[in-house]
Amino acid sequence: MRALALSFSSSFSSFVLPGSAKQGENQPGSVVCPISQWRYGGATNDYCLNKNGCRCNCNNGDTAAGGCGGRHKLGSILTREMFEEMLHNRNDTRCPAAGFYTYEAFVAAAKSFPAFATTGDDATRMREVAAFFGQTSHETTGGLGWNAPGGPYAWGYCYNKEIKPKSDYCDRRNQQFPCALGQKYYGRGPIQLSWNYNYGKFGASIGQQKQLLENPDLLLTDATLSFRSALWFWMTPQWIKPSCHDVIVGAWMPLSRDEAAGRLPGYGLITNIINGGQCGRGRNTAGEDRIGFYKRYCDMFGVSYGDYLDCYNQRNFGKEFVDDMSLKLKSI
Ligand SMILES: *[C@@H]1O[C@H](CO)[C@@H](O)[C@H](O)[C@H]1NC(C)=O
Repeated sequence: MRALALSFSSSFSSFVLPGSAKQGENQPGSVVCPISQWRYGGATNDYCLNKNGCRCNCNNGDTAAGGCGGRHKLGSILTREMFEEMLHNRNDTRCPAAGFYTYEAFVAAAKSFPAFATTGDDATRMREVAAFFGQTSHETTGGLGWNAPGGPYAWGYCYNKEIKPKSDYCDRRNQQFPCALGQKYYGRGPIQLSWNYNYGKFGASIGQQKQLLENPDLLLTDATLSFRSALWFWMTPQWIKPSCHDVIVGAWMPLSRDEAAGRLPGYGLITNIINGGQCGRGRNTAGEDRIGFYKRYCDMFGVSYGDYLDCYNQRNFGKEFVDDMSLKLKSI
């Protein structure tokens, strides 16, 4: 399968046509295009129309993703080529989820969340995509604990279900989203959605509460639904936690209790939202892995990482009593 990865990347490089823009390269007419290897020119129509001497990054017909131009099209931020390269080992025969996750499914799922990757300037939008895939790549990684070819951060999206779950993740006290007989609510899909109440709440959000509680394996058979569950978790504030989306776009503002707990806005806070148990206990392998994926993707986009990447010294959201459930957001 290594051979497949190699032949894939060489066929990719043939996509980067001779004469196309490379990072910071001067084009005829000596315009410096604000690009990374993955994006010819910017995401705006200015570049797509080949003004400024810059090439469009998406003139290869990704109509499913909205094609070229249009600031609000996801495909102008994350092209199919980049998606494939970010997750390029996911079809390796050693990956249990080989063949499951597709660009089409991701783009179809994102249509249900119009604010995803469309908020703020281009760098903010790319950072949100990098953060989403950074966290979900860690959740599904096949690169930890062995000498993985290409390094650990080339192995996102290798799994779609938790291996050796420690429990059936059924909170029996929860009456609103009761567990179905014989079902287990261990991690499934890109975000590894866990617990009956999360399957129930996600299901309710799309009018399929009963279906998701009775058949959580839907997240293993329907890739669009699987991505949708991860994007739902990403976009939805729960309890006193802000949404991951509001944090990465810079809308969330820490309250005094957050500041006292070391919870400042950045990628580390998103780790705290997704798996607070990994926070407040110093440097750890899981935290480093989450950050490693994020940095790789930010580097591919050519955007900065922002501040506060880890939650090593943040108190977990679950660790304090609060009587004020409000969140403070500014508009972006
Ligand atoms: C992985 O498999 C999916 C589904 O068959 C396919 O769409 C995609 O192009 C493959 N990607 C890579 C990098 O092998």
